[in-house]
Amino acid sequence: MSGLAPAPVASFLTDPNFKSVLYIIAFALFIIGLSGLTGPKTAVRGNRIAAVGMVIAVVATLLVDPFHNWLLIVAGLIVGTAIGVPAARKVKMTEMPQLVALFNGVGGGAVALISWAEFRQTGGFDDVATYVVVFSLFSAIVGSVSFWGSNIAFGKLQGLIDGGSISLGKAQLPVQGLIGLGAIGLAVAIATGADSELLIIGVLVLAGIFGILLVLPIGGADMPVVISLLNAFTGLAAAAAGVALDNQALIVAGMIVGASGTILTQQMAIAMNRTIVSVIVGGFGGSGTAAAAGPAGAGGGTVTSTSASDVAIQMAYARQVVVVPGYGMAVSQAQHAVREMAKLLEGKGVTVKYAIHPVAGRMPGHMNVLLAEADVPYEQLKEMDDINGEFSRTDVSLVIGANDVTNPDARNKADSPIYGMPILNVDESASTIVLKRSMSSGYAGIDNPLFVDPKTSMLFGDAKASVEAITEELKAL
Ligand code: TAP
Repeated sequence: MSGLAPAPVASFLTDPNFKSVLYIIAFALFIIGLSGLTGPKTAVRGNRIAAVGMVIAVVATLLVDPFHNWLLIVAGLIVGTAIGVPAARKVKMTEMPQLVALFNGVGGGAVALISWAEFRQTGGFDDVATYVVVFSLFSAIVGSVSFWGSNIAFGKLQGLIDGGSISLGKAQLPVQGLIGLGAIGLAVAIATGADSELLIIGVLVLAGIFGILLVLPIGGADMPVVISLLNAFTGLAAAAAGVALDNQALIVAGMIVGASGTILTQQMAIAMNRTIVSVIVGGFGGSGTAAAAGPAGAGGGTVTSTSASDVAIQMAYARQVVVVPGYGMAVSQAQHAVREMAKLLEGKGVTVKYAIHPVAGRMPGHMNVLLAEADVPYEQLKEMDDINGEFSRTDVSLVIGANDVTNPDARNKADSPIYGMPILNVDESASTIVLKRSMSSGYAGIDNPLFVDPKTSMLFGDAKASVEAITEELKAL
């Protein structure tokens, strides 16, 4: 390296203080970027700012000790870019949780491998401070749990593994407990002086099996919460690796991921009226496949079906229409068609707003992202607390592929699994139109009395096809 640049420049670049300055700039960019992610308008810019921070942190890390195996580093960068960039560009919004699971798993796996490499480089943590050994072993265990758990989460969401609960029944907890204790036992043996490489391999394998057993019993539909939790694990493992390697960038980035993953997991659980523990030990959700219900509606009430032309007429003469998007809109990719329909309505003097439930869809911000992609003005997107007071003044609520987030049982039925979950009060509007394919339940696997409410009409069919049909009728009016 010193042959490439005059000596003073080279020594400046490799000065640890220069690295610290670059790290501080990177951390500031992480935090500015993160604050941008709090709103859809600033999210893309926030993401880019944080990415620039990450590039600076990586460059700073590579600069300080220039005697790396550059060939391996460049090869790794090329392979990672060649796989990661097309995958992120091509992924459909509905498949985003899978991609996050994969990326998160790779992070956990990398941290676990760092611990193994440290073990090898120091001859089994010979002459290494105890806290470094403890943090390294912590990263090995948590990183391996996160890697294997994330892969199972990916497999379930992608349909490669049965999305339902797969467990050893009553033996599940004892077997899982023994395997977890086994991993910790081997780690303790290493920490107290044993230096056989088989031990660290044993730690990684047992922690991996623990991660697999942790995620297999969880229903596919609960996966976004689990992925967010595993994301928090990866962050903590990375922060611990940072302490072991004395690398501030890893500590800060790991703690940001750990803290934000934990907060996100908790917020998702609260919005679903669940506890994180109830998600992990399994509960409703199952495979995430809607259970078929009969032609009679929830609890046997009468279902009123309607036609695209009736819906068009009703909305064209409304003062205010509130669109309530849900998971079905994402599945049918109806967002662009919805925007076209809304433009026509606005042209006829109708006020159109969008009611966004915090857990509509299958991932945080799912509806915001889809509607932003279709150029729906941000001002029309209303958070649940802001729109709920307006339903009583709304002529038509158009529910597009949403189900649980509109279920009045969450307010009224104390023995409902979703009782207490805050919902969008669409049943307070003068008229509700629900677009879905059948009377099947949603994620929670329960009936929805909204569908048999006398003020509700059902327009059966794929959401995108139904919205397009309504749009054609609106044009003809
Ligand atoms: P759901 O309650 O899951 O209902 C979605 C509805 O969409 C289904 O009843 C389905 O009925 C319909 N649908 C599916 N494909 C369709 C298509 N092509 N065209 C028209 N309709 C279609 O959705 P939601 O109201 O958005 O609620 C979200 C649920 O997911 C909540 O229970 C929430 O707790 C849970 N959850 C959310 C998250 C996050 S962070 N968003 C994470 C995990 C779990 P048909 O089959 O009859 O069409």
